[in-house]
Amino acid sequence: MGTLLSDLKNPDKKPLLAAPLAELSHLPLRLLIEEFGGCDWYFTEMISAGALRAASPYEDFYTAAGSLADRTVFQLAGSDPDAFAAAVERLLEIPGAGIDINMGCSAFTAVQKGWGIEWMRDPRRAADLIAYLRPLIKDRTLSVKMRIGWTADEGFFKEFAAALESAGVDFLTLNPQIKKESRGRSGDWKWVKLLKETVSVPVIGNGNIIDSETFAFRAGLNGFPGFGADGFMIGRGGVARPWLFKRLSDLQNGAAAGFEVDLTAVFDRFTELLRLYQPPEFYPSRLSRFLFYFCGNFRFGHRLFSEVKKAGRNGNEMEAAVRGYLNRHPEERFSRI
Ligand SMILES: Cc1cc2nc3c(=O)[nH]c(=O)nc-3n(C[C@H](O)[C@H](O)[C@H](O)COP(=O)(O)O)c2cc1C
Repeated sequence: MGTLLSDLKNPDKKPLLAAPLAELSHLPLRLLIEEFGGCDWYFTEMISAGALRAASPYEDFYTAAGSLADRTVFQLAGSDPDAFAAAVERLLEIPGAGIDINMGCSAFTAVQKGWGIEWMRDPRRAADLIAYLRPLIKDRTLSVKMRIGWTADEGFFKEFAAALESAGVDFLTLNPQIKKESRGRSGDWKWVKLLKETVSVPVIGNGNIIDSETFAFRAGLNGFPGFGADGFMIGRGGVARPWLFKRLSDLQNGAAAGFEVDLTAVFDRFTELLRLYQPPEFYPSRLSRFLFYFCGNFRFGHRLFSEVKKAGRNGNEMEAAVRGYLNRHPEERFSRI
């Protein structure tokens, strides 16, 4: 197995990466994705640098990477360079592939704390953070996940990316949206191409890859020109269908045919892994978060998710709702992709 950076620099390989997703891309989901195969590298959900420095009680769950540690990038969020430095020091004590800085999150609570896209206000300040962390991170990769910016300003976008590159970032991931775009809106991948033309470090494209067609368009397969990305990061599509990575890597390898998945088995395994690797008090919120996307596999998924929500914080009732649905609709048990 090569390193993350050698994978990204290999012109014959366009690695697939599982995106950081708060309360979703925890170890259980990553293990489930891994069991299907197809995903090359994993990102943790954003981990608060301040909380990690303070050794808050749940931090071990956020940093847990198990058997996937060597292929896991820890994503940090924060506003204080010294908190980042202290968090890096802690992360270097456990195995891992790299450390990513979240400069793209635009959730209200994150922005309020100066996290995420707040870093995209000032290229100099962002570059100073990278230059400060670079020597601390040693032989692991240091990367940044970013958006287009607060507005669609090409000049600023290029200046920001170039500043990060000069400061020593190893690669960049772009979710090509501006600050105010909601999570539902589709990103514009022409910005991925622009980023690729702006920097010489590898660029990972991210956003709205949900099936073979959306992947082929963005990855330049099946006659599409693509956008030049060196790797592809997938978020929500991989929660709804943890087997999507396998399907897409098959596609990269020329396999036209899809395969069938047993949704009951997927659900059983997810709940099993969630119980094994997350604290019990996380169970209802993480299950509900997962089901928000997973229910999309079902014909009456909206109705099912309403039932899930009615269960409030009762994980057993949420499970019963899903199992009841599958019993009532045995024809929906198998999904073809
Ligand atoms: C529920 C949710 C949580 C997210 N959490 C994070 C996060 O912790 N860190 C981050 O950089 N991006 C986060 N994102 C953004 C995703 O990583 C990704 O950029 C975005 O969802 C677009 O990719 P997709 O269309 O493949 O989902 C989050 C997005 C969603 C929907």
